[in-house]
Amino acid sequence: MLTSVKTLSTALGLALAATLAWAGPASAAKAPPPPSQNWSFEGVFGKFDRAAKQRGFQVYTEVCASCHGLRLMSYRNLSALGYTDDEIKAYAAQFEVQDGPDEFGEMFFRPAEPKDRFVEPFANAREAAAANGGAVPPDLTLMTKARKNGADYLYALLTGYRDEAPEGFELSDTQYYNDFYPGHAIAMAPPLWPDGVEYADGTPATVEQQARDLTTFLSWTAEPEMEERKSMGHAVILFILFFIVVAYFNKRRLWAQLH
Ligand code: HEC
Repeated sequence: MLTSVKTLSTALGLALAATLAWAGPASAAKAPPPPSQNWSFEGVFGKFDRAAKQRGFQVYTEVCASCHGLRLMSYRNLSALGYTDDEIKAYAAQFEVQDGPDEFGEMFFRPAEPKDRFVEPFANAREAAAANGGAVPPDLTLMTKARKNGADYLYALLTGYRDEAPEGFELSDTQYYNDFYPGHAIAMAPPLWPDGVEYADGTPATVEQQARDLTTFLSWTAEPEMEERKSMGHAVILFILFFIVVAYFNKRRLWAQLH
């Protein structure tokens, strides 16, 4: 009896809380859910589009890399995008990493090599904040995993800036209005512009195209082993199906003898 009274009161409490939450004023921090897009990499047979990954990598390099790192990526991982060893070496060599100590006990700088992790744009969070009006640009390697509906959210964020905040919405000097950023006031200026990059493969670089390509590239950095994982899953299912068939015929053979 006592437990059922307790359960009842908990249920009533929950119902009340839910009603209050539903009836309460729409909180300013709420952003609408990002519209769902079609991505080639979704679904059981989904694959990353290689050309889109390469274009997304180009936009990352030319536009985002000055503020956002990809600290879990090594330059040699770029071979999965279809780049040759020489291309990767040349790309890495544009960056400098600290190494050492040498035989005199001194640290020194050398050009980055394919085995090195992507070089960070800032020495630490403090330098990053100082350069960005107090806000720290987060690392992008796992961004599409770190946010709910990550790929759709990233695309919506990158294409969701408004030139002006709606009437009565206060923005500070270092904030911009974005439809999909929680709270709408984001400390990142709109990073994408029409023809902000000139694509190596000649694709017209609209803002939407750049956002799609970046989302494909950053979904790959978040889960580079996705295609292998999926094909492994298919192999496992085929293997199991095969044994179900074997077991079925075995059973028929055994029972035929018994009858
Ligand atoms: C000039 C520096 C700068 C550039 C260039 C830049 N960003 Fe940002 N970005 C920031 C800062 C600062 C923040 C943190 C914003 C905040 O806290 O309000 C941020 C935040 C983000 C976030 C996190 C949003 C969230 O939900 O928390 C994503 C995703 C992002 N940037 C993607 C990109 C991409 C993709 C590019 C390249 C097209 C890019 N940024 C270019 C400075 C930059």
